[in-house]
Amino acid sequence: MIIAIDGPTASGKGTLSKQIAAHFGLPHLDTGLLYRAVGRQVILNGGDPDNPSDALAAVAFPDELLDDPVLRNEATGSLASRASVHPDVRKALFERQRDFALQDGGAVLDGRDIGTVIAPDADVKLFITASVAARAKRRFAEMQQRGVSITLEEIVADLERRDARDTGRKDAPLMAADDAFTIDTSDLGIEDAFAAALEAIETAS
Ligand code: C5P
Repeated sequence: MIIAIDGPTASGKGTLSKQIAAHFGLPHLDTGLLYRAVGRQVILNGGDPDNPSDALAAVAFPDELLDDPVLRNEATGSLASRASVHPDVRKALFERQRDFALQDGGAVLDGRDIGTVIAPDADVKLFITASVAARAKRRFAEMQQRGVSITLEEIVADLERRDARDTGRKDAPLMAADDAFTIDTSDLGIEDAFAAALEAIETAS
């Protein structure tokens, strides 16, 4: 069973994807992490994420980079969003994601274009979304817990910038696949969101 999970940043898709993978005993790939590694590697190379050839060169990041906590920062998320607009970068990361999706026994992948580009043949497609206010509140709490000093206004501005870039890009924009089941987590706790996702999976599969 392939489960494709897409949605904007801080929608809760990361937490949900991990829970769903654990529930079904499936391997899970957070594809955002690959783009974050590219964004980070561009900077380590002294390059510019807006430059297509600098971004493409950074696809050759070492696998250890995926474990670096710096990948979780807001700043790296923005770099990832800038590097991921380039079609050649997306093409270069395609096979790795596709192979993961097609492994024996199935997989859970989460990102922006899993249901539309990476696994259009997925058995179940979920689109996880939430209002900007709800997502910003969650991200703010997470940052406070990690001791990162950032205001709610800065987080809102960053989310809106990232949404606009991810939704507006020409290649593989963030959008729900036609056959995706949308879950709005604005007013749902983790347990309720998980229950809604399980129900959708059972209906679809
Ligand atoms: O999901 P996460 O916030 O870690 O993703 C970071 C950035 O990587 C996103 O803002 C998006 O621009 C890009 N991304 C993408 N396609 C994916 C996953 C992430 O373009 N499948």
